Amino acid sequence: MSVLLTGGAGYIGSHTALALIEAGEKVVVADNLCNASREAIRRVEEMTGTEIPFYEADVADTAAMNALFEREEIESVIHFAGLKAVGESVEKPLLYYRNNLDSTLTLLETMERFGVRRLVFSSSATVYRDGNAPFSEDSPLSGSCPYGRSKLMIEQIIGDVCAASALSAVILRYFNPVGAHPSGRIGEDPSGVPANLMPYISQTASGKRQALTVFGGDYPTRDGTGERDYLHICDLAEGHLSALRYCREHEGAEVFNLGRGESVTVLELIRAWNRANDMDIPYVLGPRREGDVAVTYANADKAKKMLHWEARRSVEDMCRDAWNWQKQNPDGYR
Ligand code: NAD
Ligand code: WQD
Repeated sequence: MSVLLTGGAGYIGSHTALALIEAGEKVVVADNLCNASREAIRRVEEMTGTEIPFYEADVADTAAMNALFEREEIESVIHFAGLKAVGESVEKPLLYYRNNLDSTLTLLETMERFGVRRLVFSSSATVYRDGNAPFSEDSPLSGSCPYGRSKLMIEQIIGDVCAASALSAVILRYFNPVGAHPSGRIGEDPSGVPANLMPYISQTASGKRQALTVFGGDYPTRDGTGERDYLHICDLAEGHLSALRYCREHEGAEVFNLGRGESVTVLELIRAWNRANDMDIPYVLGPRREGDVAVTYANADKAKKMLHWEARRSVEDMCRDAWNWQKQNPDGYR
């Protein structure tokens, strides 16, 4: 029996595929490669000495999903597939709603048809309403952009299906996953100019970008810059294994934050990078980025108590591993 990873060739999916195989799970990947490279899965195969059945398919394609579920013995699904760029979702809301909702609906229908009853879903801390960090799972919700609202809608759909059927689901709200596997073989490979902080720092370190612009120095925070809950990608990957185990032993739908439960400012992250990699990242202070909030971090107690999971890696580990990946793969998987 296998675990199907939709979107498994992506950043979080590829690290999770590795963690699952290392824990003895069998993995199948379905990805349409709209934001990923087949090379990521090839490298996980190389690192684990395991062949991973790979389906280049749109998860919203019913015929393709039927064919996959007929061919493979799927026991559970981790649903990573989705579009995730906040800014793009504001410009192209229909693309985001169509892709993220359709793929989930087709997946849920296919799972029902084939009697597959365990689902782990990639949600996001972006579903929390601004203003009352640390966020616990029962904090007020409100998607702040079409991307966030698509996640909120999917959480509700999954809840409804669990209530009406034998589906058992774990919804994971990730905070800010960063870094790479310490081998430097797999990592985050954004296309174009990175929208997120850590890949921008990495590309500044490699000389691809001249200097980092710090978006806002006048927030009501420790040093005026935004505070976030950065989480090492390998800790996050391991969180999926815990979620899968929980899902196998429990009925219904349960939501968990995956974060470290600590906030780090932009300037603190730059300093951690400089310490970990013996560098001096050039930066300039710029205006706030539209749509940004001052502070986001998790109350991570529920995952610790019920999933027996907690992040182990430090901010320096994240910075060291991000740089190791960047150095070894200056052009990502290309
Ligand atoms: P990613 O873009 O690297 O991975 C998503 C994968 O899904 C890509 O490989 C893409 O090709 C694939 N995909 C998209 N639509 C598809 C479709 N219709 N059919 C098949 N494949 C499709 O992103 P990621 O960072 O690995 O994120 C994985 C999931 O976690 C996403 O759902 C994202 O919204 C969520 N998430 C990510 C973050 C983050 O900061 N990276 C934070 C919170 C939540
Ligand atoms: C972090 C901090 C910026 C870039 C996003 C999504 C969220 C989730 C994770 C998917 C902020 C500052 C950034 C730069 C900067 N993804 N920054 N200069 O915005 O917390 O979260 O990714 O679900 O939904 O919104 O992450 O890395 O973009 O920003 O100063 O060039 O770094 O202002 O304070 P964010 P980020």
